[in-house]
Amino acid sequence: MTVLDARTAGTHVATRLGVSFTGWGATVPGPPVTNDDLAAVLDTSDDWISTRTGIRARHIAGPADTTAIMAARAGTAALERAGRRPDEVDLLVVATTTPDRSCPATAADVAGLLGTRAAACDVNAACAGFVTALHLALPAVATGTSRVALVIGSERMTSLVDPTDRSTAVLFGDGAGALVLETPAAEEAEDAATGPGMITSVLDGDAALVPHLEVPHGQRWLHMDGPEVFRAATRGLADSGTEALRRAGATVDDVAWYVPHQANRRIIDAVAGRLGLDVDRVVLTLDRHGNTSAASVPLALAEAADDGRLQPGDLVLASAVGAGMTWGSILLRWGGAA
Ligand code: ACO
Repeated sequence: MTVLDARTAGTHVATRLGVSFTGWGATVPGPPVTNDDLAAVLDTSDDWISTRTGIRARHIAGPADTTAIMAARAGTAALERAGRRPDEVDLLVVATTTPDRSCPATAADVAGLLGTRAAACDVNAACAGFVTALHLALPAVATGTSRVALVIGSERMTSLVDPTDRSTAVLFGDGAGALVLETPAAEEAEDAATGPGMITSVLDGDAALVPHLEVPHGQRWLHMDGPEVFRAATRGLADSGTEALRRAGATVDDVAWYVPHQANRRIIDAVAGRLGLDVDRVVLTLDRHGNTSAASVPLALAEAADDGRLQPGDLVLASAVGAGMTWGSILLRWGGAA
C-alpha cells in the first residue's frame, strides 16, 4: 500500500491505494424502450418523462436476461479487455438489488457462468451498490489480498417496479457494467503521484430515510417518495463528493470526469452546480439507460473508457446514492489498461 503526498497540477493529491483498472465491460438487454413506447401503455408522456427526469429510453430485460446472465456478459467483456482469463480472477463482487434468487449469492451463479473459482459475494447497497463494492474491493487489491478482482453492477430493476405505476415504471432500466481491478505493475506502483488507484472514498448514509425508498415488508413493488428521494440524493451526492475532494486535498478543477449515479438529470445538474463542475465533464448515460441502480456507474464508466474520454492519469469522481439511504463518492486516478 502506498501512502504518499504528491504535487499534481498544482494541487496536493495523495494516491493512497495503488490499483490498476485494466478492463471494463457493459451490456444492456434488448432494444431501447422509448418514452413513447411507455406512453402507449401508461398514462404518461415523453414530454413529462424527459422534462422531469432527462430519460428518453431504457432497456428492459427479457426472461433470459437474468441478473446473473447480464453480469456474466459484462464481466466477460471486462475480462477480455483486461486480457485475463476467468480462472485468474480471485475476487468476484456483484453489486445488485435484484438478485435472481435469495440463495446463493448472484456472484456464485456468475462465477459458474464465467468459470472461475474466485471468492464470490454480493453487495446490496441499492443504487450505491457499485461504489460500495469498489470501496470494499479496491483495498483488497491494493494490499495484495486479491490480485485480480472483477467488480460488477448488475440490475433487473424492472422486476422490482410495478409496471402499472407511472411514478416509478418510467424511471428504471436494466443492464450491467463491470470493472477489472489489478495489483499495479511495479513501475505504476512506484509512481504514487500519477499511478492509478483509489485516492479517497467517502461512504455515508441515513437509515431514518429508509421509508422514502423501499419495498415494504411483505410487498412486491418498490415504494418511493420522489421529492424526498430527490432532496436526499442531491445532498448526499454533493456532500460526499465535496468531502472526497477535501480529504484528497484536491479541488473540483482537478477532476477530469464526474461519473454520478444516473437517476435524474435534474439531480445531476443540481449536484454538478453545487460542486462547481461544468456539465461537459459529467458522463451521462441516463437519457438512454434510465436509472439502472447499481449498474449505472459501471455502465457510464465503461462507456467513457470505451470512447476514450477516460485517459490514464485522469482524476475521476464516481458518486452514487440509493435506498437505505446510503451514498458515497470515490476519487480515482484512472489508468492501468494494457
Ligand atoms: N407521467 C405523468 N405524470 C406523472 C408521472 C408520469 N410518469 N409520474 C407522476 N406523475 C404526476 C404525479 O401524479 C403528480 O400529479 P398530481 O400533481 O396531479 O398529483 C405530478 O406528476 C407531479 O408529481 P411529482 O412527484 O411532484 O413530480 P416531481 O417533479 O417531483 O418529479 C420524480 C417526480 C421524477 C420522481 C422526482 O421526484 C424524482 O426524480 N425524484 C427522485 C427519485 C429518483 O430518482 N428515484 C430513483 C431511485 S432512487 C435513486 O436512484 C437515488
